Amino acid sequence: MRFLHWSLGIVATLVFAGGVMAQDLRIGMVTPPSHRWTQGATELAARLEAESDGRLKLAVFPSGQLGNEAQMLQQLQAGALDLAFLTLGELANRDADFGILIAPYLVQDATQAARLLEGQTAAALRDKLGALGLHGLGYGMAGMRIVLVSRPMPEGATVAGRKIRTVPLQQELDFWRRAGAAPTPLPLPELFDAYSNGQIDGMQIDFEGTWNNRFQDYSAAVLDTRHMIFPMVAVASARKWQAMSGDDRALLERLIADEAAGIRADYAAIDDDYRNRLIEAGAPVVQGGPEIFGDAVATWYAHWREATPLLVELEREAKQIWPEKPDF
Ligand code: BEZ
Repeated sequence: MRFLHWSLGIVATLVFAGGVMAQDLRIGMVTPPSHRWTQGATELAARLEAESDGRLKLAVFPSGQLGNEAQMLQQLQAGALDLAFLTLGELANRDADFGILIAPYLVQDATQAARLLEGQTAAALRDKLGALGLHGLGYGMAGMRIVLVSRPMPEGATVAGRKIRTVPLQQELDFWRRAGAAPTPLPLPELFDAYSNGQIDGMQIDFEGTWNNRFQDYSAAVLDTRHMIFPMVAVASARKWQAMSGDDRALLERLIADEAAGIRADYAAIDDDYRNRLIEAGAPVVQGGPEIFGDAVATWYAHWREATPLLVELEREAKQIWPEKPDF
């Protein structure tokens, strides 16, 4: 099935219809159909078709149907996939600067996260996408990251010794190792089986993903840490982008910037809504501060400020957004 989608993408995306060149585009993402990113892509498809008078059609492939993010990135680079909503994982593993966006405790909540993604450092990172064969079209985001654990977390305990699901992103793996945990990278579509059968005993996720997968039913604690942001990068294949007309590019730029802004704006309410649903359903939601990570936050910053100096710029911007931001 995956191979079929891939080869169809290579073969032909141009169809001569009604005297104008119609174009069939495809967008991939790892999120399921119910997720805000997928809804945004579906809305984008409808607007694109309407505003191009039916000439540009966009097929949406959720849940990693086109492959995982490494595979989607390859397809984008080869010009076999037009568009994607990507997490930072594969980008940061090719250019470590992208990983600064998940620095712990940069912001307090999703509203501040959205502002940070509208800032200069995020824009500078977007300019680096060309070197990866991509054209950046804007930032979205998911909810603030929280931590779920399947075994009880006694008062004063840390996450050390637990097998925690992460995304495959070097800065995130490093953070969890510094916290004494065993980070286990798993993509979203594989998470339910891994948690419900005990292959992992904790995870980093958000309130939305927790509720939609009923992960609270397998958790002794839902730790409201909000310790990291989780950006989404809307990208086009640079190859495909170069082959498009100026008008089509302008339309895509505008519509995708609009959808990304809508996604950013929605997450403060999405976080609140799913947190409330969890509490009302009796889920064990408790506060968790930086102390649950031992000294990981401070040692992480000491290392990554040197490895990726752009982080210092991002911290400076974050401090303007959140003047009481703690220094680590
Ligand atoms: C995750 O892997 O945790 C994730 C991926 C995409 C959107 C939200 C969460």
